[in-house]
Amino acid sequence: MAEHWIESEVQGEVLGQDISDNDGEITLKVDYKAKMELHEAAMIDADGDMCIEHKKKHDQIVLYAKTHTLANKSGLQVWRGAFLLCDFVLQHAEAFANDIILELGCGIGFAMIVLSRIAKLVVGTDHDVDALTIAIKNLEMNKHGKYRLRRLDWTCSDLDESSAPFGWSHRDLNTLKQVRYVMASDVFFDDELTLIFLSKLHGLMTENPQLTALIATEKRAVFSSFSMSVIHLGYDIFLKHLCTHLTPPPLSEIFSSTPTTRYTCPQCSSTQFPRFIASSIKIEHIPQSFIYQRETMLELWYIHGLIN
Ligand SMILES: C[S@@+](CC[C@H](N)C(=O)[O-])C[C@H]1O[C@@H](n2cnc3c(N)ncnc32)[C@H](O)[C@@H]1O
Repeated sequence: MAEHWIESEVQGEVLGQDISDNDGEITLKVDYKAKMELHEAAMIDADGDMCIEHKKKHDQIVLYAKTHTLANKSGLQVWRGAFLLCDFVLQHAEAFANDIILELGCGIGFAMIVLSRIAKLVVGTDHDVDALTIAIKNLEMNKHGKYRLRRLDWTCSDLDESSAPFGWSHRDLNTLKQVRYVMASDVFFDDELTLIFLSKLHGLMTENPQLTALIATEKRAVFSSFSMSVIHLGYDIFLKHLCTHLTPPPLSEIFSSTPTTRYTCPQCSSTQFPRFIASSIKIEHIPQSFIYQRETMLELWYIHGLIN
C-alpha cells in the first residue's frame, strides 16, 4: 500500500470536536441524532418562542482519534462506514442481543462501543496494536457492554496464542467458535488488502458455517490511467468474488434461524477464486442514528454463504 496521508471526512461532520496541537490528536463527541432533534425542538416552546438554552447533557459517544494518518495507520481514525454499520445494528438491536459478534479491523473501537451495548459479547480485532490500545481507552470512556480486544492480522493464518497484550487465550479461541456475526466497516480501500481480507473471511466462514458477515463500505471512485477507466479501489475486487447467480435468504430468515450456508453453483464452482453468496441492503430503509452525511457511495452488504 502506498504511504500517503489520509483524512477521514466524517470526523469533520460530527458536532463536537476538541483538537489538541499534539500530533493531530482529536476528541470527537458523536451525538445521537434523535437526542439532537429532541434538543433542537426543545429550544422553541409551544407558542413558537425561543427558550433559553439549558445546558443538556446529550447522549454522546466520546472518541479519541487522530485528525490524519499515514495510509497504513488508517485505524487511528473513524470512517464513515462504521456509522452505517452502527445504524443497522441499532435498527435490529433485538436480533443481535443474544449473539457474539466478531469485528475485523475495528480500529479505535467506535462500532465496538455501540455493538457491545447491544450484543452478548463483541470481540474486536485489528492488526494495529496502537489502534487496539486507543480502542480500550475509547471503550472505557463510554458506556459499554462486554467486549474483548485481540490482535488479528488478515495476512496471518495463525492467531497469536500468547499472554502478550491482545494475545488469544484458550477461552478466546473457544469463544471464536461461538461467533454468529462477523462485522467490518471500511475495509475495501486497496485491491491487495481486499483480497487478503476476503481470504481471511472465507477461512473464518469455512471453519464456522453458522457465520453471517455484515460489511459497510464506501465505494471510492478513482480514474485509472492503466485501464483508462473509473475504478473503485477494493470494491470492484469484492464484487468479483460474489456469485451473481444465487441470492442469500432474506435477513429476517437469517436473524431467526441459521439457514444453509453452503451452495452449489455450476457457473461459479469452476472459477479459481472463492465466491460468496451476498446481497446489498437498501440503506434508505435504515434509520440514521448519528449525525453524519449519508453519502451515496456508502453501501452495506451481508454475506451469508459460500459456494462449495
Ligand atoms: C479504514 S480503517 C477502518 C476502521 C474502522 N473499521 C472504521 O470504519 O472506522 C481499516 C482498518 O483495517 C485495519 N487493517 C488493515 N490491514 C489489516 C490487516 N492486515 N489485518 C487486520 N486489520 C487490518 C486497519 O488497522 C484499520 O483499523
